[in-house]
Amino acid sequence: MTADFLRNAYGGESMAHMRYLIWGDHAARNGFPNIGRLFEAIAHAEQIHATNHFRALRDLTGGASVCAGGEFGLKSVVENLDWAIEGELGEVNQMYPVYLQAAELQGEKEAVRSFRYALEAEKIHAALFEEARGLAANSRDMALGEDKILICPVCGFTHIGAHPEPCPICNVKASLFVGF
Ligand SMILES: [Fe+2]
Ligand SMILES: [Fe+2]
Repeated sequence: MTADFLRNAYGGESMAHMRYLIWGDHAARNGFPNIGRLFEAIAHAEQIHATNHFRALRDLTGGASVCAGGEFGLKSVVENLDWAIEGELGEVNQMYPVYLQAAELQGEKEAVRSFRYALEAEKIHAALFEEARGLAANSRDMALGEDKILICPVCGFTHIGAHPEPCPICNVKASLFVGF
């Protein structure tokens, strides 16, 4: 069961990665360059999640069909953000808690870690997209100034601006964070 969940989660994160790049490009072209950057940064976090799930499958090689939902379409920046929020909250409230519990029951430590990292990071993604959505609804972009959007390369933790402390999710050094 855990292996199927890892494959499904890999599929979901892979699609989210692409979808955010597409929506980010769309936002940047439509007067919201910083919301575009947020999408781009979070797309990178989803790539990290997909990579973690893929690696957790280890020697379970071979072809498989996956079951992964995702939104298709290019609407307004606000509507794309609505979809992004819905997707993140679906992962936080439904998908990852179930996957995590199955992995714990089956004693799959690497899958537990991979699902936990994603679950915790998606909570932050939902909040950041909510913030961006509120601004975009009033025709305002995010005010990032000199701040970078930082992504933890291990777990996908996402933070805007300086973050001197180690990653609160996986404890990696903040100096390793990738900036967007
Ligand atoms: Fe996310
Ligand atoms: Fe981390």
